[in-house]
Amino acid sequence: MARETAAGVSARTGNDATGAAADLLRVENLNVEFPSPSGGWQTTVQDVSFSLKPGGSMALVGESGSGKTVTSVAVMGLTGATGGRIASGRIVFDGKDLTAGTQKQWRDLRGPGMGMIFQQPIRSLNPAFTVGDQIAESVRKHLGMNRKQARARAVEMLEMVQIPRAAQRVDEYPHAFSGGMCQRVMIAMVMACNPRLLIADEPTTALDVTVQERILELLRDLQEQTGVALLFVSHDLAVVAELCQQVVVMYAGEVAENAPSEKIFFNPRHPYTSGLIGSIPKPGLNTDRRLRAIPGGIPAPGTWPHGCRFSSRCEFVEPGRCDVAHPGLIRIDGAAEHDVRCVRAAELSLDGVTV
Ligand SMILES: Nc1ncnc2c1ncn2[C@@H]1O[C@H](COP(=O)(O)OP(=O)(O)OP(=O)(O)O)[C@@H](O)[C@H]1O
Ligand SMILES: [Mg+2]
Repeated sequence: MARETAAGVSARTGNDATGAAADLLRVENLNVEFPSPSGGWQTTVQDVSFSLKPGGSMALVGESGSGKTVTSVAVMGLTGATGGRIASGRIVFDGKDLTAGTQKQWRDLRGPGMGMIFQQPIRSLNPAFTVGDQIAESVRKHLGMNRKQARARAVEMLEMVQIPRAAQRVDEYPHAFSGGMCQRVMIAMVMACNPRLLIADEPTTALDVTVQERILELLRDLQEQTGVALLFVSHDLAVVAELCQQVVVMYAGEVAENAPSEKIFFNPRHPYTSGLIGSIPKPGLNTDRRLRAIPGGIPAPGTWPHGCRFSSRCEFVEPGRCDVAHPGLIRIDGAAEHDVRCVRAAELSLDGVTV
Protein backbone atom coordinates (compact mmCIF):
# COMPACT_ATOMS: atom_id res chain seq x y z
CA MET A 1 0.00 0.00 0.00
CA ALA A 2 1.23 3.50 -0.74
CA ARG A 3 2.65 5.44 2.18
CA GLU A 4 0.57 8.43 3.27
CA THR A 5 2.03 11.70 4.41
CA ALA A 6 0.78 13.74 7.35
CA ALA A 7 -1.33 15.75 4.89
CA GLY A 8 -3.12 12.55 3.84
CA VAL A 9 -1.43 12.52 0.46
CA SER A 10 -0.12 9.29 -1.00
CA ALA A 11 3.63 9.46 -1.57
CA ARG A 12 3.32 7.09 -4.54
CA THR A 13 0.49 8.67 -6.52
CA GLY A 14 0.41 12.21 -5.15
CA ASN A 15 -3.34 11.70 -4.68
CA ASP A 16 -5.28 12.48 -1.54
CA ALA A 17 -7.59 10.05 0.31
CA THR A 18 -10.47 10.79 -2.13
CA GLY A 19 -8.29 9.86 -5.12
CA ALA A 20 -8.13 13.46 -6.36
CA ALA A 21 -4.67 14.74 -7.29
CA ALA A 22 -3.26 16.92 -4.52
CA ASP A 23 -2.52 20.52 -5.44
CA LEU A 24 0.98 21.21 -6.69
CA LEU A 25 0.62 24.90 -5.86
CA ARG A 26 -1.77 26.61 -3.49
CA VAL A 27 -1.73 30.36 -3.06
CA GLU A 28 -3.81 31.20 0.00
CA ASN A 29 -4.95 34.73 0.90
CA LEU A 30 -1.75 36.27 -0.41
CA ASN A 31 -1.05 39.90 0.52
CA VAL A 32 1.97 41.61 -0.99
CA GLU A 33 3.12 45.10 -0.01
CA PHE A 34 5.65 47.64 -1.29
CA PRO A 35 7.02 50.70 0.44
CA SER A 36 4.62 53.59 -0.05
CA PRO A 37 6.01 56.93 -1.31
CA SER A 38 4.27 58.58 1.65
CA GLY A 39 5.86 56.17 4.18
CA GLY A 40 4.76 52.77 5.50
CA TRP A 41 3.73 49.89 3.31
CA GLN A 42 1.21 49.86 0.49
CA THR A 43 -0.90 46.77 -0.24
CA THR A 44 -0.49 45.89 -3.91
CA VAL A 45 -1.88 42.37 -4.09
CA GLN A 46 -4.69 41.54 -1.69
CA ASP A 47 -6.18 38.28 -0.51
CA VAL A 48 -5.30 36.36 -3.69
CA SER A 49 -6.02 32.62 -3.62
CA PHE A 50 -5.89 29.94 -6.31
CA SER A 51 -4.58 26.42 -6.75
CA LEU A 52 -3.02 24.37 -9.49
CA LYS A 53 -2.83 20.58 -9.84
CA PRO A 54 0.29 18.75 -11.05
CA GLY A 55 0.36 19.01 -14.85
CA GLY A 56 -2.51 21.51 -14.85
CA SER A 57 -2.62 24.84 -16.65
CA MET A 58 -3.85 28.08 -15.19
CA ALA A 59 -3.90 31.62 -16.52
CA LEU A 60 -3.56 34.84 -14.57
CA VAL A 61 -5.27 37.47 -16.69
CA GLY A 62 -5.90 41.19 -16.30
CA GLU A 63 -4.94 44.58 -17.64
CA SER A 64 -1.58 46.17 -16.98
CA GLY A 65 -1.10 46.89 -13.28
CA SER A 66 -3.63 44.32 -12.03
CA GLY A 67 -0.99 42.45 -9.99
CA LYS A 68 -0.15 39.44 -12.17
CA THR A 69 3.62 39.80 -12.03
CA VAL A 70 3.66 40.69 -8.33
CA THR A 71 1.69 37.48 -7.68
CA SER A 72 3.98 35.36 -9.88
CA VAL A 73 7.13 36.78 -8.35
CA ALA A 74 5.72 36.00 -4.89
CA VAL A 75 5.20 32.35 -5.92
CA MET A 76 8.86 32.25 -6.99
CA GLY A 77 9.92 33.61 -3.58
CA LEU A 78 11.46 36.71 -5.15
CA THR A 79 9.28 39.45 -3.66
CA GLY A 80 12.09 40.66 -1.39
CA ALA A 81 14.41 41.05 -4.38
CA THR A 82 11.89 43.48 -5.92
CA GLY A 83 11.70 45.59 -2.74
CA GLY A 84 8.40 44.22 -1.48
CA ARG A 85 7.28 41.80 1.20
CA ILE A 86 4.70 39.07 1.61
CA ALA A 87 2.68 40.61 4.44
CA SER A 88 0.40 37.60 4.98
CA GLY A 89 -0.98 34.49 3.33
CA ARG A 90 0.63 31.22 2.35
CA ILE A 91 2.29 29.78 -0.73
CA VAL A 92 2.10 26.02 -0.49
CA PHE A 93 4.14 24.02 -3.00
CA ASP A 94 3.92 20.25 -3.06
CA GLY A 95 2.37 20.29 0.42
CA LYS A 96 5.04 22.55 1.96
CA ASP A 97 4.28 26.05 3.17
CA LEU A 98 7.15 28.02 1.63
CA THR A 99 6.17 31.23 3.40
CA ALA A 100 6.87 29.49 6.72
CA GLY A 101 10.24 28.12 5.56
CA THR A 102 13.65 29.64 4.93
CA GLN A 103 14.83 31.59 1.89
CA LYS A 104 17.22 28.69 1.21
CA GLN A 105 14.33 26.23 0.88
CA TRP A 106 12.74 28.49 -1.70
CA ARG A 107 16.04 29.04 -3.53
CA ASP A 108 16.62 25.29 -3.74
CA LEU A 109 13.21 24.88 -5.35
CA ARG A 110 13.95 27.42 -8.08
CA GLY A 111 15.25 25.25 -10.88
CA PRO A 112 14.12 21.71 -10.08
CA GLY A 113 10.80 22.75 -8.49
CA MET A 114 9.72 25.88 -10.31
CA GLY A 115 11.05 28.14 -13.02
CA MET A 116 9.89 31.38 -14.59
CA ILE A 117 10.24 32.91 -18.04
CA PHE A 118 9.72 36.60 -18.68
CA GLN A 119 8.33 38.91 -21.32
CA GLN A 120 11.69 40.05 -22.68
CA PRO A 121 13.91 36.99 -23.06
CA ILE A 122 16.93 38.90 -24.33
CA ARG A 123 17.13 40.74 -21.01
CA SER A 124 17.08 37.48 -19.06
CA LEU A 125 19.97 35.96 -20.99
CA ASN A 126 23.55 36.96 -20.27
CA PRO A 127 25.07 38.44 -23.46
CA ALA A 128 28.59 37.43 -22.37
CA PHE A 129 28.01 33.66 -22.40
CA THR A 130 26.90 31.22 -25.09
CA VAL A 131 23.38 29.89 -24.74
CA GLY A 132 24.84 26.40 -24.22
CA ASP A 133 26.98 27.57 -21.30
CA GLN A 134 23.97 29.26 -19.72
CA ILE A 135 21.80 26.15 -19.93
CA ALA A 136 24.71 23.96 -18.81
CA GLU A 137 25.42 26.15 -15.78
CA SER A 138 21.87 25.77 -14.58
CA VAL A 139 21.84 21.95 -14.88
CA ARG A 140 25.29 21.57 -13.34
CA LYS A 141 24.15 23.58 -10.36
CA HIS A 142 20.77 21.96 -9.89
CA LEU A 143 21.17 18.43 -11.29
CA GLY A 144 24.83 17.94 -10.39
CA MET A 145 25.84 17.01 -13.95
CA ASN A 146 29.46 17.16 -15.06
CA ARG A 147 30.62 19.44 -17.88
CA LYS A 148 30.12 16.87 -20.65
CA GLN A 149 26.71 15.73 -19.44
CA ALA A 150 25.59 19.34 -19.04
CA ARG A 151 26.60 20.21 -22.60
CA ALA A 152 24.73 17.17 -23.94
CA ARG A 153 21.71 18.26 -21.89
CA ALA A 154 21.95 21.77 -23.37
CA VAL A 155 21.87 20.38 -26.92
CA GLU A 156 19.02 18.03 -26.01
CA MET A 157 17.03 20.95 -24.56
CA LEU A 158 17.62 23.17 -27.61
CA GLU A 159 16.32 20.29 -29.72
CA MET A 160 13.35 19.91 -27.41
CA VAL A 161 12.39 23.57 -27.95
CA GLN A 162 12.83 22.98 -31.69
CA ILE A 163 15.83 25.19 -32.40
CA PRO A 164 17.21 24.02 -35.74
CA ARG A 165 20.86 22.87 -35.84
CA ALA A 166 20.95 22.70 -32.05
CA ALA A 167 24.40 21.05 -31.93
CA GLN A 168 25.92 24.12 -33.63
CA ARG A 169 23.75 26.82 -32.16
CA VAL A 170 24.58 25.72 -28.63
CA ASP A 171 27.90 27.59 -29.01
CA GLU A 172 26.34 30.87 -30.16
CA TYR A 173 25.71 33.99 -28.07
CA PRO A 174 22.20 35.36 -27.34
CA HIS A 175 22.54 38.26 -29.81
CA ALA A 176 22.64 35.71 -32.65
CA PHE A 177 19.08 34.62 -31.84
CA SER A 178 15.83 36.34 -32.89
CA GLY A 179 13.26 37.31 -30.22
CA GLY A 180 11.26 34.12 -30.72
CA MET A 181 14.41 31.97 -30.68
CA CYS A 182 15.63 33.74 -27.51
CA GLN A 183 12.34 32.88 -25.86
CA ARG A 184 12.86 29.24 -26.88
CA VAL A 185 16.33 29.36 -25.31
CA MET A 186 14.83 30.75 -22.09
CA ILE A 187 12.22 27.98 -22.08
CA ALA A 188 15.02 25.43 -22.66
CA MET A 189 17.02 26.87 -19.78
CA VAL A 190 14.09 26.69 -17.37
CA MET A 191 12.90 23.26 -18.55
CA ALA A 192 16.44 21.77 -18.42
CA CYS A 193 16.08 21.20 -14.67
CA ASN A 194 12.77 19.33 -15.07
CA PRO A 195 10.70 21.77 -13.00
CA ARG A 196 7.23 20.73 -11.85
CA LEU A 197 5.89 24.27 -12.31
CA LEU A 198 6.61 26.65 -15.18
CA ILE A 199 5.55 30.26 -14.74
CA ALA A 200 5.42 32.11 -18.05
CA ASP A 201 4.93 35.86 -17.54
CA GLU A 202 3.69 37.37 -20.82
CA PRO A 203 6.16 35.20 -22.74
CA THR A 204 4.82 36.16 -26.14
CA THR A 205 3.87 39.82 -25.72
CA ALA A 206 7.09 41.13 -27.29
CA LEU A 207 6.81 38.76 -30.28
CA ASP A 208 4.91 39.08 -33.53
CA VAL A 209 1.74 37.09 -33.99
CA THR A 210 3.05 34.10 -35.95
CA VAL A 211 6.03 33.66 -33.61
CA GLN A 212 3.64 33.98 -30.67
CA GLU A 213 1.52 31.13 -32.04
CA ARG A 214 4.59 28.87 -32.33
CA ILE A 215 5.72 29.59 -28.77
CA LEU A 216 2.23 28.78 -27.49
CA GLU A 217 2.31 25.52 -29.46
CA LEU A 218 5.69 24.75 -27.96
CA LEU A 219 4.42 25.35 -24.41
CA ARG A 220 1.47 23.05 -25.11
CA ASP A 221 3.79 20.33 -26.49
CA LEU A 222 6.18 20.64 -23.55
CA GLN A 223 3.31 20.27 -21.13
CA GLU A 224 2.19 17.10 -22.88
CA GLN A 225 5.70 15.66 -23.04
CA THR A 226 6.90 16.54 -19.55
CA GLY A 227 3.76 16.93 -17.43
CA VAL A 228 4.96 20.31 -16.14
CA ALA A 229 2.22 22.48 -14.62
CA LEU A 230 1.83 25.88 -16.27
CA LEU A 231 0.98 29.21 -14.69
CA PHE A 232 0.55 31.44 -17.72
CA VAL A 233 0.37 35.20 -17.23
CA SER A 234 -1.22 37.38 -19.89
CA HIS A 235 -3.27 40.51 -20.40
CA ASP A 236 -4.81 38.81 -23.43
CA LEU A 237 -7.73 36.45 -22.84
CA ALA A 238 -7.62 35.23 -26.44
CA VAL A 239 -4.14 33.80 -25.93
CA VAL A 240 -5.06 31.88 -22.80
CA ALA A 241 -8.23 30.44 -24.35
CA GLU A 242 -6.32 27.75 -26.19
CA LEU A 243 -3.77 27.03 -23.51
CA CYS A 244 -5.29 26.97 -20.03
CA GLN A 245 -7.87 24.85 -18.24
CA GLN A 246 -8.45 27.39 -15.50
CA VAL A 247 -8.50 31.20 -15.57
CA VAL A 248 -7.98 33.63 -12.70
CA VAL A 249 -9.02 37.15 -13.69
CA MET A 250 -7.27 39.81 -11.61
CA TYR A 251 -8.33 43.41 -11.17
CA ALA A 252 -6.69 46.07 -8.96
CA GLY A 253 -4.64 43.58 -6.95
CA GLU A 254 -7.36 41.03 -6.28
CA VAL A 255 -9.18 38.12 -7.90
CA ALA A 256 -12.27 39.30 -9.78
CA GLU A 257 -13.25 35.87 -11.13
CA ASN A 258 -11.81 32.36 -10.98
CA ALA A 259 -13.31 29.53 -13.03
CA PRO A 260 -12.63 26.78 -15.56
CA SER A 261 -11.83 28.30 -18.98
CA GLU A 262 -15.12 27.36 -20.63
CA LYS A 263 -17.06 29.11 -17.87
CA ILE A 264 -14.92 32.23 -18.16
CA PHE A 265 -15.35 32.37 -21.92
CA PHE A 266 -18.94 31.24 -22.40
CA ASN A 267 -20.52 32.22 -19.09
CA PRO A 268 -18.52 35.06 -17.51
CA ARG A 269 -20.12 36.38 -14.34
CA HIS A 270 -18.02 39.47 -13.66
CA PRO A 271 -18.59 42.56 -15.84
CA TYR A 272 -14.81 43.00 -16.03
CA THR A 273 -14.33 39.51 -17.50
CA SER A 274 -17.12 40.14 -19.97
CA GLY A 275 -15.46 43.46 -20.86
CA LEU A 276 -12.13 41.73 -21.49
CA ILE A 277 -13.86 39.21 -23.75
CA GLY A 278 -15.53 42.09 -25.62
CA SER A 279 -12.15 43.61 -26.33
CA ILE A 280 -10.64 40.48 -27.88
CA PRO A 281 -9.69 41.42 -31.44
CA LYS A 282 -9.16 37.88 -32.67
CA PRO A 283 -11.28 36.26 -35.41
CA GLY A 284 -13.11 33.21 -34.13
CA LEU A 285 -13.26 34.57 -30.61
CA ASN A 286 -15.30 37.69 -31.29
CA THR A 287 -18.55 38.53 -29.66
CA ASP A 288 -21.48 39.37 -31.88
CA ARG A 289 -21.01 42.98 -30.88
CA ARG A 290 -18.56 45.50 -32.20
CA LEU A 291 -15.15 45.28 -30.58
CA ARG A 292 -15.19 47.47 -27.47
CA ALA A 293 -12.47 48.42 -25.08
CA ILE A 294 -13.35 48.98 -21.42
CA PRO A 295 -13.30 52.75 -20.85
CA GLY A 296 -11.00 54.12 -18.13
CA GLY A 297 -8.09 52.43 -16.39
CA ILE A 298 -7.23 50.35 -13.33
CA PRO A 299 -6.94 52.39 -10.12
CA ALA A 300 -3.41 52.27 -8.71
CA PRO A 301 -2.69 50.75 -5.29
CA GLY A 302 -3.50 53.37 -2.68
CA THR A 303 -6.36 54.79 -4.77
CA TRP A 304 -8.63 51.76 -4.69
CA PRO A 305 -12.25 52.80 -4.21
CA HIS A 306 -14.03 51.84 -1.01
CA GLY A 307 -16.64 49.65 -2.74
CA CYS A 308 -16.14 47.45 -5.79
CA ARG A 309 -12.81 48.39 -7.36
CA PHE A 310 -14.27 48.04 -10.86
CA SER A 311 -17.37 50.14 -10.06
CA SER A 312 -16.11 53.36 -11.64
CA ARG A 313 -15.76 51.60 -15.02
CA CYS A 314 -18.68 49.20 -14.80
CA GLU A 315 -21.65 49.67 -17.10
CA PHE A 316 -23.79 47.70 -14.64
CA VAL A 317 -22.87 49.70 -11.54
CA GLU A 318 -25.74 50.23 -9.10
CA PRO A 319 -25.02 53.28 -6.97
CA GLY A 320 -25.74 52.75 -3.29
CA ARG A 321 -25.01 49.04 -3.67
CA CYS A 322 -21.82 48.50 -5.64
CA ASP A 323 -19.92 51.43 -4.19
CA VAL A 324 -20.72 51.09 -0.48
CA ALA A 325 -18.73 48.05 0.64
CA HIS A 326 -15.88 46.01 -0.72
CA PRO A 327 -17.44 42.86 -2.23
CA GLY A 328 -16.17 39.44 -1.21
CA LEU A 329 -15.54 36.52 -3.54
CA ILE A 330 -18.76 34.53 -3.95
CA ARG A 331 -18.95 30.88 -5.07
CA ILE A 332 -21.51 31.07 -7.84
CA ASP A 333 -21.24 27.48 -9.05
CA GLY A 334 -20.11 24.86 -6.55
CA ALA A 335 -19.61 22.02 -9.03
CA ALA A 336 -17.44 24.12 -11.32
CA GLU A 337 -15.73 25.94 -8.43
CA HIS A 338 -16.65 29.20 -10.12
CA ASP A 339 -15.96 32.24 -7.92
CA VAL A 340 -16.80 35.87 -8.66
CA ARG A 341 -16.40 39.17 -6.85
CA CYS A 342 -19.57 41.02 -7.84
CA VAL A 343 -22.67 41.62 -5.73
CA ARG A 344 -24.79 41.63 -8.89
CA ALA A 345 -23.36 38.37 -10.30
CA ALA A 346 -26.55 36.35 -9.80
CA GLU A 347 -28.80 38.83 -11.54
CA LEU A 348 -26.69 39.95 -14.50
CA SER A 349 -26.73 38.38 -17.92
CA LEU A 350 -23.33 39.09 -19.42
CA ASP A 351 -21.87 38.61 -22.89
CA GLY A 352 -19.32 35.87 -23.32
CA VAL A 353 -17.82 34.44 -26.46
CA THR A 354 -20.40 33.64 -29.12
CA VAL A 355 -19.67 30.96 -31.69
N1 LIG B 1 8.83 46.82 -7.21
C1 LIG B 1 7.69 47.50 -7.06
N2 LIG B 1 7.59 48.56 -6.21
C2 LIG B 1 6.44 49.25 -6.05
N3 LIG B 1 5.31 48.94 -6.70
C3 LIG B 1 5.33 47.91 -7.54
C4 LIG B 1 6.51 47.13 -7.76
N4 LIG B 1 6.23 46.15 -8.67
C5 LIG B 1 4.93 46.33 -8.99
N5 LIG B 1 4.39 47.36 -8.31
C6 LIG B 1 3.00 47.85 -8.44
O1 LIG B 1 2.13 46.76 -8.26
C7 LIG B 1 1.00 46.89 -9.13
C8 LIG B 1 0.85 45.60 -9.89
O2 LIG B 1 1.97 45.48 -10.76
P1 LIG B 1 2.25 44.19 -11.64
O3 LIG B 1 3.61 44.37 -12.22
O4 LIG B 1 2.00 42.96 -10.85
O5 LIG B 1 1.15 44.33 -12.77
P2 LIG B 1 0.85 43.35 -13.97
O6 LIG B 1 -0.55 42.85 -13.81
O7 LIG B 1 1.93 42.33 -14.09
O8 LIG B 1 0.89 44.36 -15.21
P3 LIG B 1 1.57 44.23 -16.67
O9 LIG B 1 0.50 43.61 -17.55
O10 LIG B 1 1.84 45.65 -17.05
O11 LIG B 1 2.80 43.41 -16.58
C9 LIG B 1 1.24 48.11 -10.00
O12 LIG B 1 0.49 49.17 -9.49
C10 LIG B 1 2.72 48.34 -9.85
O13 LIG B 1 3.01 49.72 -9.95
MG1 LIG C 1 3.43 41.98 -15.46
